[in-house]
Formats: sequence, C-alpha cells, structure tokens
Amino acid sequence: SRQVLTDRYQRQLSYLRVSVTDRCNLRCIYCVPGTPVPRLKHEDILRYEEILRVMRVGIGLGINKVRVTGGEPLVRKGITGFLEKLAVMEGLRDVSLTTNGVRLAEQVHEIRKAGIQRINVSLDTLNPATFMRITRRDRFRKVWAGIMAAHRAGFDPIKINAVVLGGINDSEVVDLARLTFDYPFHVRFIEYMPVGNVGPDYSRRIFRDEILERIYRLGTLTPVSRKPLDGPAERYRLAGAQGEIGIIGAISHNFCSQCNRLRLTARGRLRTCLLSDEEIDLIGPLRKGCTDRDLEEIFIQAARRKQERHHLSNTLTDKVSDRMSAIGG
Ligand code: GTP
Ligand code: 5AD
Ligand code: SF4
Repeated sequence: SRQVLTDRYQRQLSYLRVSVTDRCNLRCIYCVPGTPVPRLKHEDILRYEEILRVMRVGIGLGINKVRVTGGEPLVRKGITGFLEKLAVMEGLRDVSLTTNGVRLAEQVHEIRKAGIQRINVSLDTLNPATFMRITRRDRFRKVWAGIMAAHRAGFDPIKINAVVLGGINDSEVVDLARLTFDYPFHVRFIEYMPVGNVGPDYSRRIFRDEILERIYRLGTLTPVSRKPLDGPAERYRLAGAQGEIGIIGAISHNFCSQCNRLRLTARGRLRTCLLSDEEIDLIGPLRKGCTDRDLEEIFIQAARRKQERHHLSNTLTDKVSDRMSAIGG
C-alpha cells in the first residue's frame, strides 16, 4: 500500500512493534527491578479491538510488518485469538512474536494455527542456575521445552535472543553460538541497553567486538548478506552450521540509519524510538471517539518526530527512563 510514513531522514516506517501487556512471568534483571512493580490497570491498556483498529489505520499508511511483544505477550488472556485476527489482516506481509518462552510449549500449536510463521525467544543462558540468576525464576526447562516444541511445530526461523552481561552469562557466548551447529536457529547476541535504569551495572556491558572475538574460537564466521529490511542484527554463519549468528550492537554499532520502526506501547502511545522517551498519546483520542483520520494524523506526527539516531554512547551514563517491559524491546 502507499508509503505515507516517511520520516525527516527519508526512512520509510513500515514496521510496528506492538506491546500487548506490561506484565511478565519472569523478572529479568536487565528489564525489571527486584522490588514489586506497579502494574498497569486493565483499563489503562489497549484492548485487542483497539489495537486492531490502530493496525488497520497503520496499514493504510504503509505499515506492512508487525511484531507482538510485551512484557510477555503469552500471559495476556485471549492472545492466540488476537494473533489470529492480526495474521489475516490484509496488507501485512509479516506477523511475528517475541516471547520469553515460558508458556510456549503449551501454546505452540494454537500460535501456529493462528498463522504466525516465526518467533523470537529470549534465552540468555543454557544453565538453569544462571537462568534463575538472570530471570529470578526457575523456568529454564520450560523455556527449553518451549523452544524445542516450536522447532518441532515448524517455526522458521526461530531467533534466540541473548543479552550478554559480563560476569553473569558472558562465559556462555560460545555455548550459545554452538547451538547453531545442532539447530537451524538464529542465535543473536544483544548489547545490554540502558533502558528503565533497573538492571546490573552498565559496566557489565559486553560490546559487539568482544562477542565476535569469542565466537571466532568456534570457527570461521562468514557474513550472511543482509536484506534491506533485515532489522538490527548483523548476520553471520559459522562454517558447517545449520543456523546463524546475529549480533545486535545497539550501542556500539547502532542501526538507526536503517530504522524502519514505530512502537505501540501497552498503555497506548506511539513511541518514536526505543531509546528515546518521546511518545505520542493515542489511547486518549481513541477513547474520546476520534476518527480514523485523526489516528492517521497521530501516526504522521510520530513519523515526523522520529529522531535521526539515539544518542546513547558507550560511556555508560545515559539512560532511558521507561521500563523495557512496557515498551516491548
Ligand atoms: P526481527 O528483525 O523482526 O526478527 O525482530 P527484532 O530482532 O527487531 O526483534 P526482537 O524483539 O527479537 O528484538 C531483539 C533485540 O533488538 C531486543 O533487545 C530489542 O530491544 C532490540 N531492538 C529491536 N528493535 C530495536 C530498535 O529499533 N532499536 C534498538 N536500539 N534496539 C532494538
Ligand atoms: N537491553 C537489551 N535487550 C533487552 N531486552 C530486554 N531488556 C533489554 C536491555 N536492557 C531484550 C529481551 C528480549 C528483547 C525483546 O529485548 O531479552 O529478547
Ligand atoms: Fe519479561 Fe522480557 Fe522483561 Fe524478561 S525481558 S522480564 S522476559 S519482559
């Protein structure tokens, strides 16, 4: 459809990340504080029908790819019914899901039946004790079972996301990379981003170059040619591997110049960038009965306001104030 959402830097915004809930059944240290978090009330988050309406308007303006995130999307009631409605929307060429995997094994067939082709699963470690340390919950086996169930159910590709934290899971980079020999997974290593100001000391960040250095010990890494709309990961393949290695160097090698994303937060605002606090209210006008034309104008405003790039540096000082779990990564 027509590409109306072009920003001031000639980027076409065609990808919407939709956070359907701020709630989560894990408590990852880089995402939420250890203390109880006030949760959004049900009436303060967008209803599924509202999200679908916003999507229809977005699609009319050129959105053709959507990713459902959270919190943890699979804890929201009715999620598979919602996915089903999303997957059949005309104009979308890609509908995907990012999940922590805890409830994947039990829902995998419904998710597949809903028409979702590919999923991304967060998994930072293969060690149950380290999993407990990072997520504050003893759920490693459930997540692994979920990934295996998704593999058997035919999701392709399955992307595994690992945030690398020095002294916590950085010694496992090689083990996680080795998964690509046994499975066709895309294992992606992510630089820890300063979102929400809740997590481990930012001095625990391990940057892209050091991650790559460790993986080189497993063999030759050949770059995989990137497609224009590929997203944040640099792609590689280890010689002899079925799967791929990805590096998301969000801080040291940001991909802002190719960013094609807008975000719809659980509380119903359009966010112009993960790493900036700028948001434009949408739930307010929506609930006051605004027209689709008004919603279009809100999208266009968001596109116009999108900044050229994030300004977080490697210096460990700058932070984004909202919590990751309410933005959806
Ligand atoms: P696809 O390319 O569609 O497979 O998805 P993705 O890799 O963009 O999504 P996913 O939810 O798996 O996110 C992987 C990591 O990339 C997470 O740590 C996200 O926070 C991060 N990420 C996703 N989009 C952006 C972005 O626009 N900017 C930055 N800095 N990080 C992002
Ligand atoms: N920095 C980098 N990635 C993060 N994620 C959550 N918090 C952070 C952070 N502070 C990742 C999760 C999930 C994805 C959506 O975002 O691990 O895979
Ligand atoms: Fe939950 Fe994802 Fe945040 Fe972990 S990163 S606590 S899985 S929302």
